[in-house]
Amino acid sequence: MKNSNNIVVITGGAGGIGQECARAFKKDHLIITDYAQKDVDEVVKKLNNDGYQASGIACDITNKKDVQKLVEFTADAGQLKAIIHTAGVSGTIKDAKKVFNINLVGTDIILDSFYHIAKKNSAAILLSSMMAHTVPENDTYDYALKNPQEDNSLEAVNKVVEENADTMYNFTKRGVILLMLKNVDEWGEKGARILTVSPGVIETKMGLKAAEEHPERMEKIKNATPLKRNGKPEDVSNMVHFLASEKANFLTGTDILVDGGVLNNIKKGL
Ligand SMILES: NC(=O)c1ccc[n+]([C@@H]2O[C@H](COP(=O)([O-])OP(=O)(O)OC[C@H]3O[C@@H](n4cnc5c(N)ncnc54)[C@H](O)[C@@H]3O)[C@@H](O)[C@H]2O)c1
Repeated sequence: MKNSNNIVVITGGAGGIGQECARAFKKDHLIITDYAQKDVDEVVKKLNNDGYQASGIACDITNKKDVQKLVEFTADAGQLKAIIHTAGVSGTIKDAKKVFNINLVGTDIILDSFYHIAKKNSAAILLSSMMAHTVPENDTYDYALKNPQEDNSLEAVNKVVEENADTMYNFTKRGVILLMLKNVDEWGEKGARILTVSPGVIETKMGLKAAEEHPERMEKIKNATPLKRNGKPEDVSNMVHFLASEKANFLTGTDILVDGGVLNNIKKGL
């Protein structure tokens, strides 16, 4: 893989959307990363058995040293084509602080660190959520969401969401979009692009866990979806693959909803 000019890094690479995204990049050189080395090794082995070119390294995205190691591992392999940042947790972990740290502080660390190796035509594609669009604009908490590593940011957001992990999830995903917008000019100066993708309900372990916890709400969402189905990981990976490609080379600084059209009905109250 040494000196390849098409390195695609997948965070959350052992997760449902991450694994499917990896499979969209058959012609590229994949670097799979996730929290646990054994999960990374398993995914890398499967991909290589299926004819992909993959290697991997474990990394906790909330740990700056780990992320630095991931960046060095990437730079050693060659030139960054794209970082697909899917690592994240939902409110089902019932810990608002952890949701904030992983989804938002982790994303901020990833962006800061990968900026240094982004080149002309590199792309960063971050997974947000349609739920980000249910959180209204607000100067006070938007500042905290845009600056998650500042001392009082977690406290400021926690006050608004009242330590509810599901609500915190929605706020952190708004934060992911705000971080994308905050970084777009700097990335643009290098000729690099940055985008977010906001899925609706996608049938992965995370999506199914949420469905188990709130079966009635999930049924309502499905019925209110114009296409009358949940999303599949391929619905997201097809979009991600397009966004990372040359065909999308005038797209940056925007969010793409992949939700079967349901957000509009959620906003109207289902
Ligand atoms: N599934 C859905 O319905 C849905 C909907 C909207 C948005 N999303 C977003 O898409 C992304 C992927 O979701 P998914 O359904 O594939 O979830 P998933 O749980 O299958 O995968 C997430 C992966 O992130 C990894 N991860 C968690 N914390 C980490 C950390 N600190 N460091 C490194 N890795 C860590 C997990 O180990 C896991 O493999 C998430 O950001 C999620 O919020 C999912």
